[in-house]
This record gives sequence, structure tokens and C-alpha cells, in this order.
Amino acid sequence: MQTKVKSLKQTEALAKRFAQNIKKGDVVILNGDLGAGKTTFTQFVLHNLGVKDIVNSPTFAILKSYKGKFNFHHIDAYRITNEEAIEIGLDELFENKNDVFFVEWAENISALIPKKVKTINIKYIDETTREFNIDE
Ligand SMILES: Nc1ncnc2c1ncn2[C@@H]1O[C@H](COP(=O)(O)OP(=O)(O)O)[C@@H](O)[C@H]1O
Ligand SMILES: [Mg+2]
Repeated sequence: MQTKVKSLKQTEALAKRFAQNIKKGDVVILNGDLGAGKTTFTQFVLHNLGVKDIVNSPTFAILKSYKGKFNFHHIDAYRITNEEAIEIGLDELFENKNDVFFVEWAENISALIPKKVKTINIKYIDETTREFNIDE
């Protein structure tokens, strides 16, 4: 599914619809350049799934876990490698098959990513416009 959103509000609405299809065990891969909106979209989805305490913690946090409708793990692998991901236990984290994962820069930790994923590609068009390609 491809769609263009023209504002944060529209991104929020898209995230709300996407959230309705989230099931336990889902691994969501978010692709796109820095500033595309991967984190923003993930936070909107989490909000819609009962997560109340989303802190805009520093971007260098690799892993943020939340409790809502499911146990959620938001991973930003921008600065890590497969080896480092294993060192900090992300391979074991992915064994929690009832949890839901959102992963930015998944290509950096490709060895750990399960086979079955939902992929979201986000393209920056202009300051407030983004093109979303969602493959569920
Ligand atoms: N329509 C939109 N959808 C998503 N983000 C948007 C949109 N318009 C503006 N933005 C802004 O773009 C930035 C995206 O940043 P972020 O989500 O951290 O990107 P990424 O995680 O992909 O690096 C935020 O500052 C957000 O407010
Ligand atoms: Mg991000």
C-alpha cells in the first residue's frame, strides 16, 4: 500500500490504521533516511496501542521497551553491528515471540531479524510531506 501524507496529523491517522492490524509477534521494519519519520510513526502506533509513557529519550538509546496492549521493543540500530547487537542481548530479545518489535536501521542487524516481517518504507518529500509504502 502506498500513500502520501501531507502533515503530522495525517501520519498520525495512518499510524492509527496500521496499529489496528498489529498482532502479537509482529516485527515491523521501518526504512527511510534520517528525519524521514520512522521514530515519529512508531510513537504514534505505540500511543494507539495503549502505551502512555513515551519518552523522547536521546536518539542514542538503542532499545526502548514499553508495555501496552503488548510488550513492545523499539530498536534503533543506526550505530550498531550484528556483533554488538548480540553482545547486548538483542538476539535473545527477538526470542520473545509474543512481543512486538519496531526496528529502525534493521539492515545493520540483519543477522538477528526474523524472516517474517512487516516492512514500512518512508520517503521524505518535503518538510511536512512523506510517502509511505507499507507492506504487511
Ligand atoms: N508528515 C510527517 N510525518 C512524519 N514526520 C514528520 C512529518 N512532517 C514533519 N515531520 C517531522 O519530521 C521529523 C521526523 O523525525 P524522526 O521521526 O525522528 O525521523 P527518523 O526516526 O526517521 O530519523 C520529526 O521532527 C517530525 O515532526
Ligand atoms: Mg529514528
